[in-house]
Amino acid sequence: MDYIIGGTASKSVAEDLAQILKAKILDVDLKRFPDDELYVRIQDDVKNKELIIVQTTYPDPNIVELFLLQNAAKESGAKKITVVIPYYGYARQDTKFKEGEAISAKALAKLISINADKVITVDPHKEYILDFFSKPAHSCSAVPEIAKYLIEKKIDMVLAPDKGAVDRAKKASEIINCDFDYMEKTRIDGNTIEIKPKNLDSENKNVAIIDDIVSTGGTMAKSIKELKSQGAKKVFVACTHGLFAGNAIEKLTTAGCTQIISSDTIISKYSKVKIAPAIAKLI
Ligand code: R5P
Repeated sequence: MDYIIGGTASKSVAEDLAQILKAKILDVDLKRFPDDELYVRIQDDVKNKELIIVQTTYPDPNIVELFLLQNAAKESGAKKITVVIPYYGYARQDTKFKEGEAISAKALAKLISINADKVITVDPHKEYILDFFSKPAHSCSAVPEIAKYLIEKKIDMVLAPDKGAVDRAKKASEIINCDFDYMEKTRIDGNTIEIKPKNLDSENKNVAIIDDIVSTGGTMAKSIKELKSQGAKKVFVACTHGLFAGNAIEKLTTAGCTQIISSDTIISKYSKVKIAPAIAKLI
């Protein structure tokens, strides 16, 4: 039997996983000291047990909680620790763009690897960041589940916000059984940039734009506005990781978005798609 600990950021994902894997959720005592430092104690006996710890590494306090949960498991003699990171925060800085910068994706991976035997994450920003972990690391995708959710929305075409993300749009379109394309920027003159689907016409179409992350919403808002001005009927925004920083939701809504959909790697009221079934296949 598997034993599962759900960190604060990922309790419902842990519960869903426990149900699918017929595993037991363990009790953890989590308290804040008066100075706000975190205290962690796994209340069940985990000696010689195989343990799954589920925790998104966003926002920052959840990272410390993950480290402490891993440490508690190790110190208590767990036989195997599988760390499931639904949203691997800090993954976007995956190289040194300027001399002197930290490579956060690598730094975090090294620390997580210390007390882990296996790592699983979902739609990492770049697949090669899995190599930063010094323990076996695997990824799964929320795209198939997102696509299944979109079927009932009568989508005519799936778009990637840029060429680099087109594989994701293609994968979704195959499940929905519709066209796919990507948004391309063309400079018309010194002051004008046109953004439109590279090959397809969006007029009178129901369109879904799919991306791995929506953070400020800037990328999506630009595409929604253009599609609407080109006559698109409905524009759905779908992503795996809904960070929705600042006024992202307002930006998307003002731009004319019909519905915002994300998975539950980061839990919000837009989490319409459960990620646990995809994760369970890797355990
Ligand atoms: C970029 O490479 C990512 O795939 C997303 O397109 C990006 O993180 C979205 O950011 P924002 O919502 O701030 O435009």
